[in-house]
Amino acid sequence: MSSRAFLILLCTGVLLQCSGEQPVEDLSASGQRGEIAFKQVCLSCHKMSGGKDAPQLGSLIGRRAGSENFPYSDALRAADFTWSKNNLIDFLTDPRSFIPGNQMVFYGINDPEVVLDIVTYIEEYGGTN
Ligand code: HEC
Repeated sequence: MSSRAFLILLCTGVLLQCSGEQPVEDLSASGQRGEIAFKQVCLSCHKMSGGKDAPQLGSLIGRRAGSENFPYSDALRAADFTWSKNNLIDFLTDPRSFIPGNQMVFYGINDPEVVLDIVTYIEEYGGTN
């Protein structure tokens, strides 16, 4: 059984526990790898929708940085750009250089392929928030 089928089974009847993790149709191979990596490294803090520990990441691409209903750091609040695939790659590779003073406790990902997979997953997830 694929992990997605398993997730769908799990979600049946326990929808509340799965909120923020709706299954995505038609993920590319990179997006599928990214989904796994996202769950391993980002999901402890971020949800695609809702969550209190970090800004939600649904509909991230095309959204203004620091614009969600979240108590951002001054650094992120002052950030004056819109998230794109490219700047998200830069951010995840080295969060502290990209937005000095941000409060995301995360040192970045060394492997460019993993970064690209995660960004692809976030892009393909799309979604509304
Ligand atoms: C330890 C918890 C934690 C982890 C792990 C983490 N983040 Fe974050 N993230 C945060 C917090 C907290 C903020 C808000 C930072 C601030 O206000 O300075 C943030 C901010 C962000 C933002 C800016 C959001 C916005 O609304 O502008 C993005 C994008 C982001 N994180 C993506 C990711 C991705 C992708 C991963 C996994 C590779 C990840 N983060 C891992 C806690 C985390």
